[in-house]
Amino acid sequence: MSLIVYITITFVIVALIFSLYQKSTNAICTSKKRLDGKTVIVTGGTTGIGLETATDFAERGARVIIACPFQNEGEDALKLITEKTENKDVVFKLLDLSSLASIRKFAADILDTEKRLDILINNAGVGVGGETTDDGMNYIMRVNYFGPFLLTLLLLPLLNKTGTIFEPARIVNVSSVLHNFGSINFDKVNVANYGLGILLYSNSKLGLILFAHELSKKLKGNVVVNCVDPGYVGTRIFVKSGTISGIILLIIALLFFKTPWYGAQTTIFAALGKEAGKASGQIFKNCQLSRAKQSAYDDETAAKLWNKSISCVKLSSEELAQCFR
Ligand SMILES: NC(=O)c1ccc[n+]([C@@H]2O[C@H](COP(=O)([O-])OP(=O)(O)OC[C@H]3O[C@@H](n4cnc5c(N)ncnc54)[C@H](OP(=O)(O)O)[C@@H]3O)[C@@H](O)[C@H]2O)c1
Ligand SMILES: *[C@@H]1O[C@H](CO)[C@@H](O)[C@H](O)[C@H]1NC(C)=O
Ligand SMILES: *[C@@H]1O[C@H](CO)[C@@H](O)[C@H](O)[C@H]1NC(C)=O
Ligand SMILES: *[C@@H]1O[C@H](CO)[C@@H](O)[C@H](O)[C@H]1NC(C)=O
Repeated sequence: MSLIVYITITFVIVALIFSLYQKSTNAICTSKKRLDGKTVIVTGGTTGIGLETATDFAERGARVIIACPFQNEGEDALKLITEKTENKDVVFKLLDLSSLASIRKFAADILDTEKRLDILINNAGVGVGGETTDDGMNYIMRVNYFGPFLLTLLLLPLLNKTGTIFEPARIVNVSSVLHNFGSINFDKVNVANYGLGILLYSNSKLGLILFAHELSKKLKGNVVVNCVDPGYVGTRIFVKSGTISGIILLIIALLFFKTPWYGAQTTIFAALGKEAGKASGQIFKNCQLSRAKQSAYDDETAAKLWNKSISCVKLSSEELAQCFR
């Protein structure tokens, strides 16, 4: 019993220190930029950081497309955003990033029906869930890394068409401080049950930064791609619902971590900020240029991961050429 008390006290103290540190570094995106006439996609724009990001863009007048795998959650979020911002041009579309078929369907629909795409926010992510996907791949890696990889490439023609050198289209990937614990093991990146969930999460987030690094080299000046680290944010991402540890984690997160509104600020900054539009292949934190761990900039790893990812998401070379047309 006393051990539990000690652990709890230690936990609370650590969380408090985190919380104080975070509050001292919280930054707010001060851009007054309007987005009238512009189109934005926020994956997972239905709760947490993504919901706040989508709401902000809707307030600025953008056409906002939010996407998640659950119809009812999507519709609830849609109602919330529309009521709050009075922007009628917000839509919800089904997208399950753990399924290649769903990503392809979503992207084809967007390419068919949208005239432009100014901003793509790869925000959706999962922190728990050991399941394997239909095609036997690892769920966390699929949703957090391979999914956005495929989605980004498929949407690239529309981003490229929309962006100009003066106002580039922007891709923002929501990475994490946990990328620091990540590593890329090429033999195992798509193995179903490899290692601890938290490490898989870290690996997926390191993968995103490497992807940005590699993609930025392949883009011309009219599309930029950057990552953000939102900090520690009080959402349910690491909560396995229905478990005691889940409830405790949620309480700690809600008490001591950033609110999702603060958590969204750096994403918004990377999407709108003037300086951020000049950067590509970089990572931002607290509305400032930051630096990922050194290995996230390794050219060889990035190129190798790129090749591996192309085959994991089953993109043929003809299709790939189409993405860069
Ligand atoms: N919270 C933090 O401390 C923290 C720190 C660093 C980075 N991040 C990153 O920030 C991003 C947002 O996280 P959050 O904290 O706001 O978490 P969250 O509240 O759990 O939101 C995650 C979003 O992703 C969507 N999503 C989950 N699985 C999906 C799938 N298979 N296909 C499409 N969408 C899916 C969810 O949709 P449903 O609502 O329908 O499930 C939800 O909208 C994530 O990439 C996360 O890794 C968070
Ligand atoms: C964002 O993630 C996608 C998919 O993982 C990747 O292709 C792209 O390079 C990433 N961009 C950045 C800036 O990290
Ligand atoms: C990636 O694939 C390309 C084309 O197939 C090849 O030329 C290149 O050497 C590969 N790079 C790495 C690092 O494997
Ligand atoms: C973007 O489109 C132009 C033609 O409009 C093309 O030359 C260029 O290769 C494309 N870039 C990418 C990254 O797709």
